[in-house]
Amino acid sequence: MASSAGPARVDELREHVGRTVEVRGWLYNRRSSGKIHFLLVRDGTGVVQAVLSRADAPEEAFALVGRIPQESSVVVTGEVRADPRAPGGVELAVRALRLVHEAEPYPITPKEHGVEFLMDHRHLWLRSARQHAVLRVRAEIIRAMTDYLDARGYLRVDAPILTPAAAEGTTTLFETTYFDLGPAYLTQSGQLYNEAAAMAFGRVYCFGPTFRAEKSKTRRHLIEFWMLEPEAAYMELDEYMALAEEFVASVVARVLERRRSELAVLERDLAPLERVRAPFPRISYDEALRLLAERGLRVPWGEDLGGDEETALASAFDRPVFVHRYPVQCKAFYMQPDPKRPEVVLGADLLAPEGYGEIIGGGQRIHDLALLERRLVEHNLPPEPYRWYLDLRRYGSVPHSGFGIGIERTVAWICGLDHVRETIPFPRLLNRLYP
Ligand code: 4AD
Ligand code: MG
Repeated sequence: MASSAGPARVDELREHVGRTVEVRGWLYNRRSSGKIHFLLVRDGTGVVQAVLSRADAPEEAFALVGRIPQESSVVVTGEVRADPRAPGGVELAVRALRLVHEAEPYPITPKEHGVEFLMDHRHLWLRSARQHAVLRVRAEIIRAMTDYLDARGYLRVDAPILTPAAAEGTTTLFETTYFDLGPAYLTQSGQLYNEAAAMAFGRVYCFGPTFRAEKSKTRRHLIEFWMLEPEAAYMELDEYMALAEEFVASVVARVLERRRSELAVLERDLAPLERVRAPFPRISYDEALRLLAERGLRVPWGEDLGGDEETALASAFDRPVFVHRYPVQCKAFYMQPDPKRPEVVLGADLLAPEGYGEIIGGGQRIHDLALLERRLVEHNLPPEPYRWYLDLRRYGSVPHSGFGIGIERTVAWICGLDHVRETIPFPRLLNRLYP
Protein backbone atom coordinates (compact mmCIF):
# COMPACT_ATOMS: atom_id res chain seq x y z
CA MET A 1 0.00 0.00 0.00
CA ALA A 2 2.88 2.32 0.81
CA SER A 3 3.85 2.79 -2.81
CA SER A 4 0.50 4.32 -3.78
CA ALA A 5 0.75 7.11 -1.19
CA GLY A 6 2.17 10.43 -2.30
CA PRO A 7 4.79 12.29 -0.27
CA ALA A 8 3.48 15.14 1.86
CA ARG A 9 5.06 17.84 3.98
CA VAL A 10 4.09 17.92 7.62
CA ASP A 11 3.04 21.57 7.41
CA GLU A 12 0.53 20.65 4.69
CA LEU A 13 -1.00 17.58 6.31
CA ARG A 14 -4.17 19.41 7.28
CA GLU A 15 -5.04 19.55 3.57
CA HIS A 16 -4.76 15.75 3.34
CA VAL A 17 -7.21 14.58 6.01
CA GLY A 18 -8.64 11.19 5.03
CA ARG A 19 -5.84 10.45 2.57
CA THR A 20 -2.90 8.13 2.95
CA VAL A 21 0.39 9.94 2.57
CA GLU A 22 4.09 9.37 3.01
CA VAL A 23 6.09 11.54 5.41
CA ARG A 24 9.84 11.48 4.93
CA GLY A 25 11.69 12.56 8.01
CA TRP A 26 13.40 11.72 11.25
CA LEU A 27 12.26 10.24 14.54
CA TYR A 28 12.07 13.16 16.93
CA ASN A 29 10.70 11.45 19.98
CA ARG A 30 8.72 8.40 21.04
CA ARG A 31 6.27 7.50 23.73
CA SER A 32 5.18 3.90 24.01
CA SER A 33 2.77 1.76 25.94
CA GLY A 34 2.82 -1.99 25.52
CA LYS A 35 0.18 -1.83 22.82
CA ILE A 36 0.85 1.42 21.04
CA HIS A 37 3.76 3.62 19.89
CA PHE A 38 3.33 7.36 19.60
CA LEU A 39 6.09 8.60 17.37
CA LEU A 40 6.91 12.22 16.82
CA VAL A 41 8.23 12.48 13.29
CA ARG A 42 9.79 15.71 12.04
CA ASP A 43 10.49 16.51 8.42
CA GLY A 44 11.89 20.03 8.76
CA THR A 45 8.54 21.72 8.11
CA GLY A 46 6.95 20.50 11.33
CA VAL A 47 6.41 17.60 13.69
CA VAL A 48 3.55 15.12 13.41
CA GLN A 49 2.43 12.43 15.79
CA ALA A 50 2.39 9.01 14.12
CA VAL A 51 0.46 6.28 15.90
CA LEU A 52 1.23 2.60 15.48
CA SER A 53 -0.70 -0.03 17.37
CA ARG A 54 0.49 -3.55 17.93
CA ALA A 55 -2.78 -4.91 16.57
CA ASP A 56 -2.18 -3.28 13.16
CA ALA A 57 1.50 -4.11 12.66
CA PRO A 58 3.55 -7.25 12.17
CA GLU A 59 5.33 -8.21 15.42
CA GLU A 60 8.78 -7.46 14.01
CA ALA A 61 7.86 -4.02 12.68
CA PHE A 62 6.26 -3.08 15.98
CA ALA A 63 9.41 -4.11 17.89
CA LEU A 64 11.69 -2.21 15.50
CA VAL A 65 9.71 0.98 15.94
CA GLY A 66 10.01 0.54 19.67
CA ARG A 67 13.79 0.47 19.70
CA ILE A 68 15.19 2.74 16.97
CA PRO A 69 17.06 5.72 18.39
CA GLN A 70 16.04 9.34 18.15
CA GLU A 71 16.99 11.01 14.84
CA SER A 72 16.89 7.76 12.88
CA SER A 73 15.60 8.62 9.43
CA VAL A 74 12.24 7.07 8.63
CA VAL A 75 9.61 7.14 5.89
CA VAL A 76 6.19 6.76 7.44
CA THR A 77 3.11 5.93 5.44
CA GLY A 78 -0.24 6.48 7.06
CA GLU A 79 -3.69 7.91 6.92
CA VAL A 80 -4.03 11.54 7.96
CA ARG A 81 -6.64 11.85 10.70
CA ALA A 82 -8.00 15.08 12.10
CA ASP A 83 -7.33 15.28 15.82
CA PRO A 84 -7.89 18.60 17.53
CA ARG A 85 -5.68 17.51 20.48
CA ALA A 86 -2.63 16.86 18.28
CA PRO A 87 -0.17 19.67 17.53
CA GLY A 88 -1.05 20.87 14.02
CA GLY A 89 -4.52 19.38 14.35
CA VAL A 90 -3.73 16.07 12.64
CA GLU A 91 -2.04 12.77 13.30
CA LEU A 92 -0.92 9.86 11.17
CA ALA A 93 -2.34 6.35 11.56
CA VAL A 94 0.73 4.37 10.54
CA ARG A 95 0.31 1.72 7.84
CA ALA A 96 3.98 1.21 7.08
CA LEU A 97 7.30 2.47 8.30
CA ARG A 98 10.58 2.22 6.47
CA LEU A 99 13.81 2.70 8.39
CA VAL A 100 16.19 4.60 6.09
CA HIS A 101 19.05 4.89 8.53
CA GLU A 102 19.33 3.74 12.10
CA ALA A 103 21.01 6.55 14.01
CA GLU A 104 23.71 6.04 16.60
CA PRO A 105 22.62 7.08 20.10
CA TYR A 106 21.88 10.78 19.70
CA PRO A 107 24.08 13.12 21.76
CA ILE A 108 21.46 15.81 22.32
CA THR A 109 18.85 14.52 24.75
CA PRO A 110 15.97 16.28 26.48
CA LYS A 111 18.17 16.78 29.57
CA GLU A 112 19.92 20.13 30.05
CA HIS A 113 23.16 20.56 28.14
CA GLY A 114 25.69 23.33 28.62
CA VAL A 115 25.89 25.93 25.89
CA GLU A 116 29.45 24.93 24.89
CA PHE A 117 28.31 21.33 24.41
CA LEU A 118 25.42 22.50 22.29
CA MET A 119 27.67 24.83 20.29
CA ASP A 120 30.08 21.92 19.67
CA HIS A 121 27.08 20.03 18.31
CA ARG A 122 25.62 22.99 16.46
CA HIS A 123 25.30 20.86 13.28
CA LEU A 124 22.85 18.64 15.18
CA TRP A 125 21.40 21.27 17.50
CA LEU A 126 19.89 22.93 14.42
CA ARG A 127 17.32 20.11 14.42
CA SER A 128 15.66 21.23 17.63
CA ALA A 129 12.41 23.17 17.91
CA ARG A 130 13.95 26.29 19.43
CA GLN A 131 16.59 26.57 16.76
CA HIS A 132 13.94 26.05 14.10
CA ALA A 133 11.99 28.94 15.55
CA VAL A 134 15.02 31.27 15.65
CA LEU A 135 16.17 30.48 12.12
CA ARG A 136 12.65 30.78 10.72
CA VAL A 137 12.35 34.22 12.30
CA ARG A 138 15.78 35.08 10.85
CA ALA A 139 14.65 34.09 7.36
CA GLU A 140 11.42 36.07 7.79
CA ILE A 141 13.36 39.16 8.93
CA ILE A 142 15.64 39.01 5.90
CA ARG A 143 12.68 38.49 3.57
CA ALA A 144 10.80 41.38 5.16
CA MET A 145 13.84 43.64 4.74
CA THR A 146 14.40 42.84 1.09
CA ASP A 147 10.64 43.01 0.35
CA TYR A 148 10.50 46.45 1.95
CA LEU A 149 13.37 47.81 -0.12
CA ASP A 150 12.40 46.03 -3.35
CA ALA A 151 8.94 47.62 -3.11
CA ARG A 152 10.51 51.08 -2.84
CA GLY A 153 12.73 50.92 -5.87
CA TYR A 154 15.96 49.89 -4.14
CA LEU A 155 18.02 47.66 -6.40
CA ARG A 156 20.03 44.86 -4.87
CA VAL A 157 23.65 45.34 -5.99
CA ASP A 158 25.97 43.14 -3.97
CA ALA A 159 29.41 44.22 -2.83
CA PRO A 160 32.64 42.18 -2.94
CA ILE A 161 33.94 40.24 0.05
CA LEU A 162 37.64 40.53 -0.80
CA THR A 163 38.68 44.15 -0.84
CA PRO A 164 41.89 46.20 -1.08
CA ALA A 165 40.94 48.72 1.63
CA ALA A 166 39.27 49.17 5.01
CA ALA A 167 35.67 50.40 5.20
CA GLU A 168 35.44 50.73 8.99
CA GLY A 169 38.90 51.39 10.38
CA THR A 170 42.07 49.38 10.11
CA THR A 171 42.10 47.74 13.54
CA THR A 172 39.52 45.04 12.75
CA LEU A 173 40.71 43.80 9.35
CA PHE A 174 41.13 40.16 8.43
CA GLU A 175 44.08 40.04 6.10
CA THR A 176 45.01 37.54 3.45
CA THR A 177 47.43 37.59 0.53
CA TYR A 178 45.96 38.16 -2.89
CA PHE A 179 48.34 36.47 -5.31
CA ASP A 180 50.89 38.99 -6.64
CA LEU A 181 48.77 41.98 -5.68
CA GLY A 182 49.66 42.02 -2.03
CA PRO A 183 47.34 42.22 0.95
CA ALA A 184 43.57 41.86 0.64
CA TYR A 185 40.99 42.14 3.40
CA LEU A 186 37.68 40.47 4.14
CA THR A 187 35.04 43.16 3.91
CA GLN A 188 33.86 44.95 7.05
CA SER A 189 30.97 46.58 5.19
CA GLY A 190 29.74 46.85 1.62
CA GLN A 191 29.15 50.56 2.07
CA LEU A 192 31.91 52.02 -0.08
CA TYR A 193 30.87 49.90 -3.06
CA ASN A 194 27.25 50.69 -2.29
CA GLU A 195 28.06 54.36 -2.71
CA ALA A 196 29.35 53.66 -6.23
CA ALA A 197 26.20 51.64 -6.93
CA ALA A 198 23.98 54.46 -5.56
CA MET A 199 25.62 56.92 -7.93
CA ALA A 200 24.84 54.46 -10.73
CA PHE A 201 21.30 53.39 -9.74
CA GLY A 202 20.05 55.99 -7.25
CA ARG A 203 18.72 53.61 -4.60
CA VAL A 204 20.49 50.35 -3.86
CA TYR A 205 21.19 47.85 -1.15
CA CYS A 206 23.65 45.06 -0.60
CA PHE A 207 23.35 42.05 1.64
CA GLY A 208 26.07 39.68 2.67
CA PRO A 209 28.52 38.47 5.26
CA THR A 210 30.89 40.98 6.82
CA PHE A 211 33.91 40.40 9.02
CA ARG A 212 35.48 42.09 12.00
CA ALA A 213 38.72 40.79 13.48
CA GLU A 214 37.74 42.21 16.81
CA LYS A 215 38.67 40.65 20.12
CA SER A 216 35.25 41.36 21.58
CA LYS A 217 33.65 38.62 23.57
CA THR A 218 30.21 40.05 24.27
CA ARG A 219 26.70 38.81 23.67
CA ARG A 220 26.42 41.30 20.77
CA HIS A 221 29.60 40.52 18.82
CA LEU A 222 30.27 38.00 16.12
CA ILE A 223 33.44 37.80 14.05
CA GLU A 224 31.40 37.05 10.94
CA PHE A 225 27.97 38.62 10.73
CA TRP A 226 25.47 39.48 8.04
CA MET A 227 24.60 43.03 7.23
CA LEU A 228 21.98 44.55 4.96
CA GLU A 229 22.97 48.00 3.74
CA PRO A 230 20.72 50.41 1.84
CA GLU A 231 22.26 53.50 0.24
CA ALA A 232 20.56 56.34 -1.63
CA ALA A 233 21.79 59.30 -3.65
CA TYR A 234 20.43 62.71 -2.64
CA MET A 235 19.30 61.34 0.73
CA GLU A 236 20.21 63.41 3.79
CA LEU A 237 20.28 62.60 7.50
CA ASP A 238 16.60 63.16 8.37
CA GLU A 239 15.44 61.21 5.35
CA TYR A 240 17.75 58.35 6.33
CA MET A 241 16.24 58.21 9.82
CA ALA A 242 12.71 58.27 8.37
CA LEU A 243 13.60 55.40 6.05
CA ALA A 244 15.29 53.37 8.78
CA GLU A 245 12.40 53.72 11.25
CA GLU A 246 9.74 52.74 8.70
CA PHE A 247 11.95 49.86 7.63
CA VAL A 248 12.47 48.53 11.17
CA ALA A 249 8.82 48.98 12.11
CA SER A 250 7.72 47.09 9.00
CA VAL A 251 10.13 44.23 9.72
CA VAL A 252 8.83 43.84 13.29
CA ALA A 253 5.22 44.02 12.07
CA ARG A 254 5.91 41.30 9.51
CA VAL A 255 7.39 38.95 12.10
CA LEU A 256 4.42 39.58 14.41
CA GLU A 257 2.09 38.81 11.55
CA ARG A 258 3.75 35.71 10.12
CA ARG A 259 5.92 34.18 12.85
CA ARG A 260 3.70 34.22 15.92
CA SER A 261 4.01 30.51 16.54
CA GLU A 262 7.82 30.74 16.43
CA LEU A 263 7.76 33.68 18.87
CA ALA A 264 5.53 31.55 21.10
CA VAL A 265 8.05 28.69 21.05
CA LEU A 266 10.66 31.26 22.12
CA GLU A 267 8.30 32.58 24.82
CA ARG A 268 8.86 36.08 23.48
CA ASP A 269 6.87 38.81 25.24
CA LEU A 270 5.03 40.44 22.33
CA ALA A 271 4.04 43.69 24.05
CA PRO A 272 7.38 45.48 23.55
CA LEU A 273 7.42 44.41 19.89
CA GLU A 274 3.89 45.68 19.36
CA ARG A 275 5.01 49.13 20.48
CA VAL A 276 7.62 49.34 17.71
CA ARG A 277 5.86 51.90 15.52
CA ALA A 278 7.30 54.91 13.70
CA PRO A 279 8.24 57.63 14.53
CA PHE A 280 11.09 56.65 16.81
CA PRO A 281 12.55 59.14 19.28
CA ARG A 282 15.65 60.98 18.07
CA ILE A 283 18.19 62.36 20.49
CA SER A 284 21.56 63.95 19.83
CA TYR A 285 24.76 62.59 21.31
CA ASP A 286 24.83 65.63 23.61
CA GLU A 287 21.32 64.88 24.86
CA ALA A 288 22.36 61.26 25.30
CA LEU A 289 25.24 62.31 27.56
CA ARG A 290 22.82 64.38 29.68
CA LEU A 291 20.40 61.46 29.95
CA LEU A 292 23.23 59.15 30.95
CA ALA A 293 24.53 61.62 33.55
CA GLU A 294 21.05 61.71 35.12
CA ARG A 295 21.35 57.94 35.43
CA GLY A 296 24.78 58.15 37.03
CA LEU A 297 26.78 57.25 33.93
CA ARG A 298 29.30 59.95 33.13
CA VAL A 299 30.79 59.86 29.63
CA PRO A 300 33.37 62.53 28.72
CA TRP A 301 32.36 64.40 25.56
CA GLY A 302 34.07 62.79 22.58
CA GLU A 303 34.03 59.23 23.86
CA ASP A 304 32.02 56.57 22.08
CA LEU A 305 29.06 54.96 23.82
CA GLY A 306 29.60 51.38 24.95
CA GLY A 307 27.15 48.57 25.51
CA ASP A 308 26.22 49.66 29.04
CA GLU A 309 25.51 53.20 27.90
CA GLU A 310 23.41 51.95 25.00
CA THR A 311 21.38 49.75 27.33
CA ALA A 312 20.84 52.61 29.78
CA LEU A 313 19.78 55.01 27.01
CA ALA A 314 17.41 52.56 25.38
CA SER A 315 15.73 51.84 28.71
CA ALA A 316 14.53 55.46 28.77
CA PHE A 317 12.28 54.79 25.74
CA ASP A 318 9.59 52.29 24.82
CA ARG A 319 10.75 51.83 21.24
CA PRO A 320 14.02 51.99 19.30
CA VAL A 321 15.83 55.32 19.63
CA PHE A 322 18.15 57.16 17.25
CA VAL A 323 21.27 58.80 18.63
CA HIS A 324 22.54 61.32 16.06
CA ARG A 325 25.42 63.78 15.72
CA TYR A 326 28.23 61.88 17.39
CA PRO A 327 31.61 63.59 17.77
CA VAL A 328 33.75 63.29 14.64
CA GLN A 329 36.39 61.30 16.52
CA CYS A 330 33.92 58.49 17.39
CA LYS A 331 33.08 57.71 13.81
CA ALA A 332 34.53 56.46 10.52
CA PHE A 333 36.45 58.64 8.07
CA TYR A 334 33.59 58.97 5.57
CA MET A 335 31.06 60.64 7.90
CA GLN A 336 29.76 64.04 6.75
CA PRO A 337 30.34 66.75 9.36
CA ASP A 338 27.39 68.89 10.39
CA PRO A 339 27.91 72.22 8.56
CA LYS A 340 26.47 74.03 11.60
CA ARG A 341 28.79 72.22 14.01
CA PRO A 342 31.75 70.58 12.28
CA GLU A 343 32.86 68.77 15.45
CA VAL A 344 29.88 66.40 15.10
CA VAL A 345 28.82 64.22 12.17
CA LEU A 346 25.50 63.79 10.39
CA GLY A 347 25.34 60.17 11.44
CA ALA A 348 22.84 58.29 13.56
CA ASP A 349 22.83 54.90 15.25
CA LEU A 350 19.62 53.11 16.10
CA LEU A 351 19.53 51.48 19.53
CA ALA A 352 17.11 48.62 20.05
CA PRO A 353 14.98 48.49 23.20
CA GLU A 354 15.30 45.92 25.99
CA GLY A 355 19.08 46.09 26.17
CA TYR A 356 19.91 44.86 22.67
CA GLY A 357 22.11 47.82 21.84
CA GLU A 358 23.00 49.29 18.46
CA ILE A 359 21.34 47.47 15.58
CA ILE A 360 21.87 50.13 12.89
CA GLY A 361 24.79 52.39 12.09
CA GLY A 362 24.59 54.93 9.32
CA GLY A 363 24.38 58.49 8.15
CA GLN A 364 25.38 60.96 5.54
CA ARG A 365 28.65 60.50 3.66
CA ILE A 366 31.21 63.16 2.78
CA HIS A 367 30.54 64.27 -0.79
CA ASP A 368 33.27 66.91 -1.03
CA LEU A 369 36.50 65.67 -2.62
CA ALA A 370 38.95 67.88 -0.73
CA LEU A 371 37.42 67.08 2.65
CA LEU A 372 37.42 63.35 1.97
CA GLU A 373 41.06 63.50 0.89
CA ARG A 374 41.88 65.31 4.11
CA ARG A 375 40.06 62.72 6.20
CA LEU A 376 41.96 59.84 4.58
CA VAL A 377 45.19 61.54 5.62
CA GLU A 378 43.91 62.19 9.16
CA HIS A 379 42.95 58.51 9.48
CA ASN A 380 46.31 57.34 8.12
CA LEU A 381 44.62 55.60 5.20
CA PRO A 382 46.66 55.15 2.01
CA PRO A 383 45.13 57.06 -0.93
CA GLU A 384 45.79 54.47 -3.64
CA PRO A 385 43.19 51.82 -2.68
CA TYR A 386 40.57 54.58 -2.31
CA ARG A 387 41.24 56.16 -5.72
CA TRP A 388 37.99 54.80 -7.13
CA TYR A 389 36.08 55.94 -4.03
CA LEU A 390 37.43 59.46 -4.46
CA ASP A 391 36.33 59.35 -8.12
CA LEU A 392 32.72 59.29 -6.90
CA ARG A 393 33.40 62.82 -5.59
CA ARG A 394 34.84 63.87 -8.95
CA TYR A 395 32.06 62.85 -11.28
CA GLY A 396 28.64 64.17 -10.27
CA SER A 397 29.04 64.10 -6.49
CA VAL A 398 25.80 64.51 -4.50
CA PRO A 399 24.85 64.32 -0.82
CA HIS A 400 24.00 60.73 -0.02
CA SER A 401 23.29 58.52 2.94
CA GLY A 402 22.88 54.93 3.90
CA PHE A 403 22.93 52.54 6.77
CA GLY A 404 23.84 49.03 7.79
CA ILE A 405 21.61 46.81 9.90
CA GLY A 406 23.16 43.82 11.62
CA ILE A 407 20.98 40.78 11.02
CA GLU A 408 22.05 38.84 14.09
CA ARG A 409 21.49 41.65 16.58
CA THR A 410 18.11 42.27 15.00
CA VAL A 411 17.21 38.59 15.28
CA ALA A 412 18.42 38.45 18.89
CA TRP A 413 16.25 41.45 19.74
CA ILE A 414 13.10 40.30 17.94
CA CYS A 415 13.43 36.74 19.28
CA GLY A 416 14.34 37.99 22.77
CA LEU A 417 17.58 35.94 22.95
CA ASP A 418 20.31 36.80 25.41
CA HIS A 419 23.21 36.19 22.96
CA VAL A 420 23.74 36.51 19.20
CA ARG A 421 25.31 33.05 18.95
CA GLU A 422 21.96 31.32 18.32
CA THR A 423 20.85 33.78 15.65
CA ILE A 424 23.14 32.49 12.90
CA PRO A 425 23.39 28.85 11.79
CA PHE A 426 27.13 28.51 12.40
CA PRO A 427 28.44 31.33 14.58
CA ARG A 428 32.01 32.55 14.30
CA LEU A 429 33.04 33.77 17.73
CA LEU A 430 36.36 34.80 19.23
CA ASN A 431 36.85 31.29 20.62
CA ARG A 432 34.86 29.31 18.06
CA LEU A 433 35.42 28.31 14.44
CA TYR A 434 33.95 24.78 14.79
CA PRO A 435 31.74 23.34 13.39
O1 4AD B 1 28.03 50.46 12.80
P1 4AD B 1 28.68 49.60 11.77
O2 4AD B 1 30.10 49.25 11.95
O3 4AD B 1 28.43 50.38 10.40
C1 4AD B 1 28.95 50.08 9.20
O4 4AD B 1 29.62 49.11 8.94
C2 4AD B 1 28.49 51.02 8.10
N1 4AD B 1 29.51 51.01 7.05
C3 4AD B 1 27.16 50.58 7.59
C4 4AD B 1 26.61 51.49 6.53
O5 4AD B 1 26.43 52.66 6.79
N2 4AD B 1 26.36 50.97 5.34
O6 4AD B 1 27.85 48.26 11.64
C5 4AD B 1 26.48 48.31 11.33
C6 4AD B 1 25.72 47.29 12.16
C7 4AD B 1 25.75 47.54 13.65
O7 4AD B 1 24.79 48.50 14.04
C8 4AD B 1 25.44 46.17 14.20
O8 4AD B 1 24.06 45.87 14.13
C9 4AD B 1 26.15 45.28 13.21
O9 4AD B 1 26.29 45.99 12.02
N3 4AD B 1 27.46 44.88 13.72
C10 4AD B 1 27.72 43.69 14.30
N4 4AD B 1 26.93 42.63 14.54
C11 4AD B 1 27.50 41.55 15.13
N5 4AD B 1 28.79 41.47 15.47
C12 4AD B 1 29.63 42.51 15.23
N6 4AD B 1 30.93 42.41 15.53
C13 4AD B 1 29.10 43.69 14.61
N7 4AD B 1 29.61 44.88 14.24
C14 4AD B 1 28.61 45.58 13.70
MG1 MG C 1 28.33 51.27 14.64
